[in-house]
Amino acid sequence: MDRAGGPPRGFGPLEFTTDIAPIFAANNCGGCHSAGGNADTAANAQGGFPSVYDGTALEIWTNLTGDGAMVSCSGTDNYRVCINDPEASTVLTNPLNLNSMHLQFWVSMSDPDAATLYQWIQEGAVFTP
Ligand code: HEC
Repeated sequence: MDRAGGPPRGFGPLEFTTDIAPIFAANNCGGCHSAGGNADTAANAQGGFPSVYDGTALEIWTNLTGDGAMVSCSGTDNYRVCINDPEASTVLTNPLNLNSMHLQFWVSMSDPDAATLYQWIQEGAVFTP
């Protein structure tokens, strides 16, 4: 069921392809996070993966999680998805912060999109087609 933009239902699991991937399109993340876009540079990507969030659901998930490998974060790690510490995930912290490089998409973790992403990370950040 497609619930992007809607309130989290509070029980899981969420489905990546129908519940999570549409959030990136709905917020136009791909406006900068596309191949060759201004966020897709080595310096801006803050990590070893392409900073591209406008591909297929599987491509978005792979870029977010490093194919599932980089999901346990510690210390100063700047990972997009931290299963062990969801609030530290840069996929949440970047869009929540207003700075010179980034827009503020969501004002708090209770924004529906942020809350839905948070729940998906808590559930293990798995890919579901
Ligand atoms: C106006 C252009 C722009 C848009 C739109 C944008 N970003 Fe970014 N993003 C950037 C830039 C530039 C950086 C690198 C500087 C920084 O980290 O603030 C960045 C960095 C990031 C990072 C950390 C680095 C990385 O690639 O993982 C994440 C995560 C991120 N953005 C997520 C998002 C999400 C999610 C959205 C949509 C809700 C979004 N961005 C929309 C420009 C943008």
